[in-house]
Amino acid sequence: MTNQDNQFKKVISHAKEYGYVVQSSEIYDGLGAVYDYLQNGVELKKNIREYWWKSMVQMHDNIVGIDSAIFMHPTTWKASGHIDAFNDPLIDNKDSKKRYRADVLVEEYAEKLLIKAQKEITKAAKRFGESFDEEQYKTTNPRVLNYLSKREEALQKIGKYLEANDLVAVKALIEELEIACPVSGSKNWTDVKQFNLMFGTKIGASADSNMDLYLRPETAQGIFVNYLNVQKSGRMKIPFGIAQTGKAFRNEIVARQFIFRMREFEQMEMQFFVRPGEQMKWYETWKERRLAWHLSLGLGEENYRFHKHDKLAHYADAAADIEFNFPFGFKELEGIHSRTDFDLSSHEKHSGKKLQYFDPETNKSYIPYVVETSIGLDRMFLAIFSKSLQEEILENGTTRTVLRLPAVLAPIKVAVLPLVKKDGLPKIAHEIITDLRLDFNVVYDEKDAVGRRYRRQDAAGTPFCVTVDHQTLEDNTVTIRYRDSMEQKRLQINDLKTVVKDEVSISNWLQKTREKK
Ligand code: GAP
Repeated sequence: MTNQDNQFKKVISHAKEYGYVVQSSEIYDGLGAVYDYLQNGVELKKNIREYWWKSMVQMHDNIVGIDSAIFMHPTTWKASGHIDAFNDPLIDNKDSKKRYRADVLVEEYAEKLLIKAQKEITKAAKRFGESFDEEQYKTTNPRVLNYLSKREEALQKIGKYLEANDLVAVKALIEELEIACPVSGSKNWTDVKQFNLMFGTKIGASADSNMDLYLRPETAQGIFVNYLNVQKSGRMKIPFGIAQTGKAFRNEIVARQFIFRMREFEQMEMQFFVRPGEQMKWYETWKERRLAWHLSLGLGEENYRFHKHDKLAHYADAAADIEFNFPFGFKELEGIHSRTDFDLSSHEKHSGKKLQYFDPETNKSYIPYVVETSIGLDRMFLAIFSKSLQEEILENGTTRTVLRLPAVLAPIKVAVLPLVKKDGLPKIAHEIITDLRLDFNVVYDEKDAVGRRYRRQDAAGTPFCVTVDHQTLEDNTVTIRYRDSMEQKRLQINDLKTVVKDEVSISNWLQKTREKK
């Protein structure tokens, strides 16, 4: 097992042990790619959602939110192109009987070539020391050039074949690249087939009046079909945005990465309606703004990168992902798409209803263009959770497991601990809790020695522990211990709330995003 696999296993078991995430219906051996959030998980998820919502809706005077239904008229999905084009190209390995996305197999092959090239570059950098010129090495070293050009060629070919829906060529490419099944190691593949990812269901009580429906595969369409309702009732002027968070459903085939790829998940999407011709300017603006939002959480700039799409979805004229360094490598965290007027024009055509906007500045009517930002809440959860989970060797040689969640997102902000279970200390601890819980999620913990309690809270992600001891009885002071630095300070009980608020308040964190813009 690789280091990466090991780290990922730790993330999954920690999520269960500390009440964050478990597989759905676990007692029945679980349901594939469906997960439940437990007492801490639901709080972390709620806090991420709120952090996104405030930065999107509250911080912009031209963005409003909605909450549209999961069920939508079935023609929506014809108009959006999902019935015809929301497919994954699938291939089975005849020996392991495992099913894969053909494009993912090729992308993984390409990623391995990139890693090989990077290894060569790192080795050379060590060898040449300060005089090393990375750019020159990349463009002249035959081995690196070979890896990078093979990678480029494979990605270009898969993009071209999928664009042309040439599944025979996709299979031939997999064979030509000699890609083997990661489970059986064999290259014994079936033909590639397209598979629609939407879940179907029915609405209505009787067989005659039943109507075939789909569970929405993205929240965006609920925004498109309501854009004029919002524009008119809110007297919105272009450019303006509509934000929404909510469940989406996809019958994912490759679903082996915990909450990275789920069949039921939550999206946080924003559609920004702009004048035709201005979409590229807004596309670049939103790429920048979204990256600034991610960086405000302090998980490390080096863990993010943009990936420009060569193969575009059926609705886009430009698209990029913000990729994050997950325990299994850099993968898509958020998509920023310039969706043109594809969706609105198509809804106009299929519904027969005018979806034009009258622009009072230009005196013209037109169908707006749309720039979308779309992030999976569960995927964001995984990014934060996995990067925050760390093991540290302390000065005394012991290991500490610490979940360094950004304080603004942590499920529990403060644990209040009486040093001992007697002498009136628990009573004071409870009084502190009664006061703090008006503002924060707080827990009480009196079991075990205080050192063990600190470690328990470190692993659960609680940023502050407050200890009540015998000195408290004399001077009304307590100790506050910081999870990340393990520093301890003595302060007046009356000052506790202000100190904690300063560290966890959403407005202070959002202020950082503003400064970074
Ligand atoms: N409205 C555009 C749209 O849905 P997408 O790239 O298919 O675009 C957007 O999805 C985001 O939703 C992704 O960047 C990812 O964070 C999240 N997402 C997509 N499929 C997912 C899945 N099966 N499980 C968890 N998150 C998913």
